[in-house]
Amino acid sequence: RDTKTVRLAVIPGDGIGPEVVAATVPTLRAALEADGHRLDVTELDWGGERFLREGAAMPANAADLVKHSDAVLFGAVGRPDVPEHELIWGLIIGLRQQLDLAVNIRPVRAFPGVPTKVRDTDGVDLVIVRENTEGEYVGAGGVAHAGSGHDLGIEVAVHSRRAIERAAHQAFALAGRRSGRLCLVTKSNAMRYGYPLWDRVVREIGAQYPEVELETVLVDAMAARMIQAPRSLDVLLTSNLFGDILSDLAAVLAGGMGMAPSANVPPGADVPGIYEPVHGSAPDIAGKGVANPVACLLSGALLLDDLGHTGAAGRIREAVGDALRDARNHTADLGGNATTADVSAAVLHALEGRR
Ligand code: NAI
Ligand code: MG
Repeated sequence: RDTKTVRLAVIPGDGIGPEVVAATVPTLRAALEADGHRLDVTELDWGGERFLREGAAMPANAADLVKHSDAVLFGAVGRPDVPEHELIWGLIIGLRQQLDLAVNIRPVRAFPGVPTKVRDTDGVDLVIVRENTEGEYVGAGGVAHAGSGHDLGIEVAVHSRRAIERAAHQAFALAGRRSGRLCLVTKSNAMRYGYPLWDRVVREIGAQYPEVELETVLVDAMAARMIQAPRSLDVLLTSNLFGDILSDLAAVLAGGMGMAPSANVPPGADVPGIYEPVHGSAPDIAGKGVANPVACLLSGALLLDDLGHTGAAGRIREAVGDALRDARNHTADLGGNATTADVSAAVLHALEGRR
């Protein structure tokens, strides 16, 4: 067997970040070692504590420090005693931008046995491909008449052909590997410039992927369809803002935020991707050891997939599924009373059984 070493940079971060990351790394290691590979971890102490100590959540050359890794596993940031933007922009959004991670992949899968607030989610298995750099998140705008009592806040949404093309290629390629169906989500009836550009560019790119069938749906209709007919969906392609909102909605179909993984991926393979649970640092439950580690575990599986360790990734997903079939392995967010460590141990045990 070919021995390969996966060089992983790990940023546990704040709150439940370190708890879910600690529950994930041993699983990644076990899955890789079962295939004769090694996991080499570099832990980075970036986040809120570093900000309080040194005035910055991460070093200025952060991107250079992780560039030599194969991938980055990130927990979450955010703590009540640090201004939000110092950690959100000062770390996770900043790092995504420095590495130019153009696309965010957010799979949502309903595991058998996991209770959900939405009825009849059996078999739901979809992926949201979210443009990761532009739209309302580009940071263009300003204020006017500040303090006059007639204040203006201007937030400019920016949509470029380049960004749309990069996201579209990822989405078509993914749809081609899955069902062959891609759903573009825009709002071109009310928006006159940005979303019509999305429609045009995505249709154009689609000509290069004749095996993929493209459907275009307005975002409001998609919100309803996601609840009413989620099994009719496979791969969704959408803008930064719509992707943010729809992915939280979709996560409910799988049992909530504790179940939602994500991957921030570059358009090429030249820099490492960042793999992270969609959820934040959850200060309300941090330090209690009760966070659901599944979102982080599934982010780890995405990471292994992208590095070509698809067998190991698949076994992690199956082990998570095995563990979740038993309600004794459900954390409080799923209505159970398992601890983070219980779930982690159950997944490791199931993984052993799948060697
Ligand atoms: P959050 O995702 O941290 O928590 C929302 C709710 O979901 C809370 O009730 C929390 O207990 C629950 N929850 C989240 N993850 C869970 C898990 N794994 N297991 C069980 N329950 C879970 O979002 P919130 O409360 O809006 O933000 C808290 C902090 O996290 C803020 O400082 C925010 O800026 C930050 N944040 C960071 C993100 C990141 O690092 N990528 C993403 C989102 C928020
Ligand atoms: Mg969000």
